[in-house]
Amino acid sequence: MSAINNKHILIGISGGIAAYKTAELVRSLIKKGAQVQVCMTQAACDFITPLTLQAISGNPVHTDLLNPQAEAAMGHIELARWADLIMIAPATADFMARLAHGHANDLLSTLCLASEAPIHLAPAMNRVMWSNPATQSNVRLLKEQGVQLHGPAEGEQACGEVGAGRMLEALQLADLIESQFSASAKQLPLSGKKVLITAGPTREAIDPVRYISNRSSGKMGYAIAAAAQQMGAEVTLVSGPVALEAPAGVRRILVESAKEMHQQTLKEAERSDIFIATAAVADYSPANVADQKIKKTDDPVSLELDYNPDILMDVSHQFPELFCVGFAAETENLIEHAKTKMLRKKLDMIVANPVGHNQGFDKDTNQVEILFKDQHISLPEQDKRTLATKLMNIVANQIN
Ligand code: C5P
Repeated sequence: MSAINNKHILIGISGGIAAYKTAELVRSLIKKGAQVQVCMTQAACDFITPLTLQAISGNPVHTDLLNPQAEAAMGHIELARWADLIMIAPATADFMARLAHGHANDLLSTLCLASEAPIHLAPAMNRVMWSNPATQSNVRLLKEQGVQLHGPAEGEQACGEVGAGRMLEALQLADLIESQFSASAKQLPLSGKKVLITAGPTREAIDPVRYISNRSSGKMGYAIAAAAQQMGAEVTLVSGPVALEAPAGVRRILVESAKEMHQQTLKEAERSDIFIATAAVADYSPANVADQKIKKTDDPVSLELDYNPDILMDVSHQFPELFCVGFAAETENLIEHAKTKMLRKKLDMIVANPVGHNQGFDKDTNQVEILFKDQHISLPEQDKRTLATKLMNIVANQIN
């Protein structure tokens, strides 16, 4: 039985003349045993009718984001979750631009943004449009986001010109999709990599019953650990106290204070390839920890604080070969502060997110800006688990 048997394939069609070939693609996938749903942009419907695709796929074709009847049958989030793989064929220059920038102004772009499934594109356009710097810059952005592009092929084009811009043939695309599910294609993007992650808050003891801490829930770090594990990595999570279970297959080392986290992380860093510091490490800890519970008095008390070690800084300086990712939670001047941090801490990549005013900490969603020395990617507010997969795809693309 083929590995694609019963897999859920969402075929997206954007508005290009190559759309007629997609009917053949859907037919081939069904012959291979896949279940296929089709989503078409409005422009695609000018090139090939939804009725044709409905007849071939055996399912109603999805075209509208705001159609109550269609939403009642299968809502767009449900459809996004249903997909094991999304293939956009043909992917026009305009669709690629919208996808690269996270637009959600029609059903197909919304589905792509709302899905955790791998996204594949079969670009098709006039050769000059393909080689245009704007399109090429979107191609780079898409690759950084973990989207996989197939083609375009060279040859004669519908517009009469000859060059790169033809969509790959339907049968080629069907085989390509099938190969994504076959055992031989199971070389996962982080196979063989060792990923070390810090997560959660730290607790800095004042006395045996009191401590200083912060509002970090650890959700982002745990989601990153789970995503890295699912992408084939061997994951070690050094975690402060949180109310979360260790993700399946992840080795967890529980710590309390910044000093303990520092010690454990440095020990593990030596055998790691990638370090991701998501922990909200307390910057200071009490200079003297009382042996007994400090008694209440009528006098005001003051607490002397010492600076804690900077775990990320020490790891990146002691292990320059390690791919180091930092997080910058900021309440103001997000990009500026994050850039300074990236340089000061010698990082390969920094993920900046606004916090405070009900953003970032202790929430299920996050909105981030990803900075490299010479690039910047914005990811819109989304579920931390979806975001974690996208972040790890970006990291995988950087190191592979
Ligand atoms: O300097 P700041 O605390 O804003 O830097 C944030 C980044 O540095 C995060 O990735 C955090 O996990 C890491 N960090 C650390 N050890 C510290 C302070 C921050 O690893 N003591």
